[in-house]
Amino acid sequence: MIKKCLFPAAGYGTRFLPATKSMPKEMMPVVNKPLIEYGVEEAIQAGMDSMCIVTGRGKHTLMDHFDKNYELEHQISGTDKEALLTDIRRLIDSASYTYIRQREMKGLGHAILTGRELVGDEPFAVVLADDLCVNEGDGVLAQMVELYKQFRCSIVAVQEVPESETHKYGVISGQMIKDDIYRIDNMVEKPEKGTAPSNLAIIGRYILTADIFELIEKTEPGKGGEIQITDALLKQAHSGCVLAYKFKGMRFDCGSVEGYIEATNYCFGKIYQV
Ligand code: UTP
Repeated sequence: MIKKCLFPAAGYGTRFLPATKSMPKEMMPVVNKPLIEYGVEEAIQAGMDSMCIVTGRGKHTLMDHFDKNYELEHQISGTDKEALLTDIRRLIDSASYTYIRQREMKGLGHAILTGRELVGDEPFAVVLADDLCVNEGDGVLAQMVELYKQFRCSIVAVQEVPESETHKYGVISGQMIKDDIYRIDNMVEKPEKGTAPSNLAIIGRYILTADIFELIEKTEPGKGGEIQITDALLKQAHSGCVLAYKFKGMRFDCGSVEGYIEATNYCFGKIYQV
């Protein structure tokens, strides 16, 4: 039903400098897999087969990762090491990968609008790969697709955060219409301390209906001078319906050093059972 997944990956990743000076944040490995690969796995698990990636200058390694490397593959062909490529080869064969460049980094809303040419006129998912999400059962996107089938409107994934952290996120408020599902009536991007409308923070998973593009086009730069997806989503919530979904699973903010280390320890424990 939802076949396309957009990965805005053009940001500068300033919180992780100097690592991100010449390397895309999305290519940073958690154990032995780059962050974007986890995101693509989650999208494929949710039934998507078209990965649309918004890149920027200096991000060509993203494209190389989802392509063959003939020299390397020839070199390790027939050895034990070939098994290390099984997962990425499966991902490459299971989906198409298209790219578009965001020429000026004008914010997440603008990055999503840049992806319009790849997405077209259909509902789509958005993954911010630096938010690594894990769950024993269905991944967060698969959970959201199920919800979309029921409600057919835009959905944002939210998580409860301590009040002292709300100023780092887009924060929603709304009416609970079912367990873990809220109909949004307000959302504020990075509220000043003490002014957040709730402790439900938006994380990097969205399902958006295609009318969001026109709403973004009409959205003026907001917080930080950037075109904010939360501002466009608020318009959508006021003219129709936008849901917030408190997902099942864990999320690590791998755009920050602490979150990245936590994710690495967690995934290492899972893979090597320590
Ligand atoms: P972030 O707010 O994490 O920004 O963007 P950032 O630039 O990547 O990182 P910091 O804060 O400077 O450390 C959220 C997501 O939106 C993308 C980023 O790549 C990230 O996946 N983004 C942001 C764009 O693609 N373009 C933009 O203009 C801004």
